[in-house]
Amino acid sequence: MRKAVLATFIAMLTFGGSALADKFPSHPITIVVPFAAGGPSDVMARILAERMKTTLGETILVENVTGAGGSLGVGRALRSPPDGYTISFGHLGTHVANGAIYKLGYDVVNDLDPVVLLPSNSMVFVSKNTVPAKSLAELLAWLKARPAPATAGTAGAGSGSHIAGLYFESLSGIKLQYVPYRGTGPAMNDLVAGQIDIIIDQLSNSINQVRAGTIRAYAVTDTKRVAEASDIPTTDEAGLPGFHMAVWSGMWVPKGTPKDIITRLNASAVDALNDPAVRKQLENLGLQMPPKDQLSPEALGAWQKAEIAKWWPMIKAANVKID
Ligand code: MLT
Repeated sequence: MRKAVLATFIAMLTFGGSALADKFPSHPITIVVPFAAGGPSDVMARILAERMKTTLGETILVENVTGAGGSLGVGRALRSPPDGYTISFGHLGTHVANGAIYKLGYDVVNDLDPVVLLPSNSMVFVSKNTVPAKSLAELLAWLKARPAPATAGTAGAGSGSHIAGLYFESLSGIKLQYVPYRGTGPAMNDLVAGQIDIIIDQLSNSINQVRAGTIRAYAVTDTKRVAEASDIPTTDEAGLPGFHMAVWSGMWVPKGTPKDIITRLNASAVDALNDPAVRKQLENLGLQMPPKDQLSPEALGAWQKAEIAKWWPMIKAANVKID
């Protein structure tokens, strides 16, 4: 019976794809964000959803399914029917790094269909205000001189903030004590409160706290200064040459989702990225738009594979222990 229903459903998908796409969407769509509310992924997803609901003409819900560096949320999304109504929101951590760290029970490439590449975040070294350092060089000296490793907030093993930590350790030889949260939103609360020492964070998550003076910023991991945070030097300028990293985000759907529906979702997301009000919101957070020729589903697929080839060797060499 189940086999027959599935066969009919796949037949409908295959032959009725365009019919399905014509009616798509006919009920609310859910974007599964694999990190806590209020963090960089959640904020970007909600800004885009606000615009996409107008072009798709349907409610878009954002559901935060957290844990295990975002791998639980991605698993939840890709096990949903391949009908376009469940979107997996993620980034370099969830759709690249986690594949090199966890026994996921799914494949970040073969169990998902790419929809669209989204803006990227430069990373930024930030600390609680009581850290006795005013420059990156002083921060590095303080980190080196400490009897015990400094505490570094992350969104869990495999998250962007964790991969940044691993990369920092591999380049600087300075050890960090990772403190995992369900997102860098909650980690930021503890940094402001002085409960943890540093975060190597996505700029969009830190920028308003830096502007408010509740935390201190030292350097961005971009090759050039970020326009919205131009007072923050680059790692090249500040004494950690070559430490370049950006957490890019994206949207995926479960494998087997009809092409027409992916095209519809992609068009809606690209429209949002081109919307002046949406761009202003995202750029004001220091986010950088993806190149115009990189906005097709295929472009995200190719970029994800290239990033896997680039990052897996470093991540595997770090030999991350998952409790
Ligand atoms: C978040 O939204 O909390 C982040 O994307 C976390 C991270 O990857 O560092």
